[in-house]
Amino acid sequence: MLSKIFAECLDCGHKFDFSPTTLTCPNCAGQWLEARYDYQNIGHNLSARTAELPFNLWRYKDVLPVKGFNQELFMGEGGTPLIHAVNLGMMLGCPNIYIKDERQGPTSSFKDRQAAVNIASLKEAGITEMVLASTGNVAIAFSAYAARAGIKLWAFLTSLVPAEKMREVAIYGTQVVKVTASYDQAKQLAAEFARQRNLYLERGARSIPSVEAMKTIAYEISEQLREILGPTPISPSNDSLATPWRAPDWYFQAVSGGLGPLGVQKGFLELHQMGLIDHNPFIAGIQTEGCAPMAHAWRQNLEQAEPVRSPRTHIATLSTGDPGRTYTILRQRMNQNGGGIFESVSDKEAFRAMHILAKMEGISVEPAAAVAFAGLIKLVRAGQVKPTDVIVVNCTGHTMAIERTILGEGWARNVELPLETPDTSQVATPQEGLLAALSRVTVDRYPRIAIVDDTPDARRLIRRILQSQGNYTIFEASDGHEAIQLAQKELPDLIILDLMMPEIDGFSVLDSLKENPQTAPIPVIVVTAKELTPGEKKRLDGQIQSLMQKGEFMSDELLDEVRALVK
Ligand SMILES: Cc1ncc(COP(=O)(O)O)c(C=O)c1O
Ligand SMILES: [Zn+2]
Repeated sequence: MLSKIFAECLDCGHKFDFSPTTLTCPNCAGQWLEARYDYQNIGHNLSARTAELPFNLWRYKDVLPVKGFNQELFMGEGGTPLIHAVNLGMMLGCPNIYIKDERQGPTSSFKDRQAAVNIASLKEAGITEMVLASTGNVAIAFSAYAARAGIKLWAFLTSLVPAEKMREVAIYGTQVVKVTASYDQAKQLAAEFARQRNLYLERGARSIPSVEAMKTIAYEISEQLREILGPTPISPSNDSLATPWRAPDWYFQAVSGGLGPLGVQKGFLELHQMGLIDHNPFIAGIQTEGCAPMAHAWRQNLEQAEPVRSPRTHIATLSTGDPGRTYTILRQRMNQNGGGIFESVSDKEAFRAMHILAKMEGISVEPAAAVAFAGLIKLVRAGQVKPTDVIVVNCTGHTMAIERTILGEGWARNVELPLETPDTSQVATPQEGLLAALSRVTVDRYPRIAIVDDTPDARRLIRRILQSQGNYTIFEASDGHEAIQLAQKELPDLIILDLMMPEIDGFSVLDSLKENPQTAPIPVIVVTAKELTPGEKKRLDGQIQSLMQKGEFMSDELLDEVRALVK
């Protein structure tokens, strides 16, 4: 009789009792072990049981590799919010985008889950010293939990890790070993160090507690989506009953070694098996172009990924060059269940997504997390994601140091107040000095832009885009009649015009503007959800400066058009 949790060897299928320190299969010495539970028993009342527990990852302790919940180590891990990305959704024409905000974990990345479950499990096993290799976030998360648990940690960090992150690791009392080499090499060194000293080594995707920790993301998302969207609609062809929880159509994540998607995929598979969700989502694993072994292998339909020996990316967090068997398992499971895709984006696309997310959703993420959002933008644009799909993007980590290359020039305005000395304070009152200094921050006249749209959400989106960079004086009109009056009264420098409006539509507004010599020269950008007929296109010819389709442009693209027309 096996206990609540047991391990199964992926090579020979042998099943045996789980222990955090049994790292290989007793039958074949295989290293790839996976946790199994009595799903039938657990599944039938899991949703009822969890509903009574606080919303953190320990509400799923029945399917986690620990004997019990350890209050002493607890820092509020898991239970992160699922945030509706309204503005991003409007720009992409996909209204159901949700952000799983893993920045809100104790050390601000999704690796907190991995650290919390691992350290709890290792504490139960009496481990007091351990080793890991990391591109930053894993080391930070483990350092925090190891500090609470009284476990000495050795962190092998590739020298590519930003100095700020290295210092963050060190403040927790972890021994940092900076390895001037690639991440894969740092991993080898850590493994050899652990072997020589006979210390426990964190092994990522080959570690049962790590995979099990990551699966709680799938559990939480499924519970949260059911809460937000209600039960999955039952199609006439599908006569199954509504499931207690709800799976998304897509799960997006930035991928380095692939532990995250491996765990999340296992979570969805378990939930499906237990009847808590009715389908497995598509898993979209997004890599950075300079280090994309999985995306390359996927495109070529290879079972095994060819390692990238020298990653070329500024995003060191995602620099696993050799994903090994993790890719093969992920691919096999994607092909057998739900489906999935690996895609890559450039560093530049990731930095752009960082800007868009911060400016349009108020969510500042680190470049590695932005990679997932850049991938979403790419797949929506390519028509792979349908407008009606329910999409969850894992926002895996917070902004650390914002590097110069990401922000560009001119992001701050400098104010220098004259030093107050006994002499100068005689000359000008401090108040005058302040006002004079402030007058250098602002300029007298900002370009004046009128936004004409009958939908308040669309007006808010465009206002936000304009405010997010540069300064404009903004007017709004909510119908054609108001628009004509506003244009005559304010004579704006630019009009951003919707076409489909009740009573006086955008075409008639344009006619009226062009008839009046005062308003005729005002440039117009049409932003519309309407598919234009050739006749309608002709009507706009020569009347407007630019045409943009709602749901098909990002904030920076509209800004480029605006900047080209007003200075
Ligand atoms: C912020 C962030 N996003 C994504 C990843 C990719 O993680 P993995 O492929 O190991 O799941 C990492 C890994 O360190 C990370 O720190
Ligand atoms: Zn085996």
